Amino acid sequence: MKVERTHDYFYLNENYKEKPKEYFKFIEKEISKDFKQDTFKMVDIGCETGSFLFFLRSLHANAELIGMDILPELLERVNTEQNIKTVLGDISNAGTYKDKMTELKDCDFVTMLSVLSIFDDFKPIIQNALQFLKENGILYIFGFFNLENLDIIIRSKYADRECDWERGWNYFSIYSLKKWCDEIGCSVEFIPFRIGIDIPKHDNDPLRSWTINIGDGEKMILNGLQLVHHLYLVKVKKML
Ligand SMILES: C[S@@+](CC[C@H](N)C(=O)[O-])C[C@H]1O[C@@H](n2cnc3c(N)ncnc32)[C@H](O)[C@@H]1O
Repeated sequence: MKVERTHDYFYLNENYKEKPKEYFKFIEKEISKDFKQDTFKMVDIGCETGSFLFFLRSLHANAELIGMDILPELLERVNTEQNIKTVLGDISNAGTYKDKMTELKDCDFVTMLSVLSIFDDFKPIIQNALQFLKENGILYIFGFFNLENLDIIIRSKYADRECDWERGWNYFSIYSLKKWCDEIGCSVEFIPFRIGIDIPKHDNDPLRSWTINIGDGEKMILNGLQLVHHLYLVKVKKML
């Protein structure tokens, strides 16, 4: 089975800088509760064209913002006028960014939004991300996590065209993440995210997520994998 991750090229045709995602606002509010100071240093892993960093810059003029991504085509679109640094690297392979460690280390916090589900093993990814933090730093992970005690590996493929199997929607359990964080001496907190707006279906791409109203003002987020998204912001902190 040939497995690729090609789906992220759709970010080349989107502009989340002009219309920030709802979860960016939710995450920034949580970060502002944890970090009251005006200046901070942070890295966004899997930053695509820098949309979340752009949003942070609009609210935190003096922060040191760094974006890391594996796709150079996306990094080229990060707005350097906003004084956002970029690092080309693969978070699953520390060797790809070892010469940039001086730039990346000693962060107050690190964000990794909708990225963890790309990998079949979350452990080395989180270990690598934790290396960028200073003492008392926080790693913020956003994505879907399973309340049931099941870890799920997913591969999908468009049925109507020639393509490889795609990765990106693995569904790790809250149980496994908590258990492993405890083993490595980290605290972990899960904060549920509920969306307040409607997202229409993208008819030409069933991998993109959309919402359906399920009554009482609640919305369910799902995609064409028939995957209900139970989304959380996860705060991982090293226990000292
Ligand atoms: C689903 S997108 C999420 C983008 C953005 N963080 C957001 O929440 O809108 C995943 C991003 O991670 C990047 N990515 C994929 N594999 C990666 C890796 N091994 N190391 C670093 N970035 C990676 C992709 O290029 C893409 O920009």
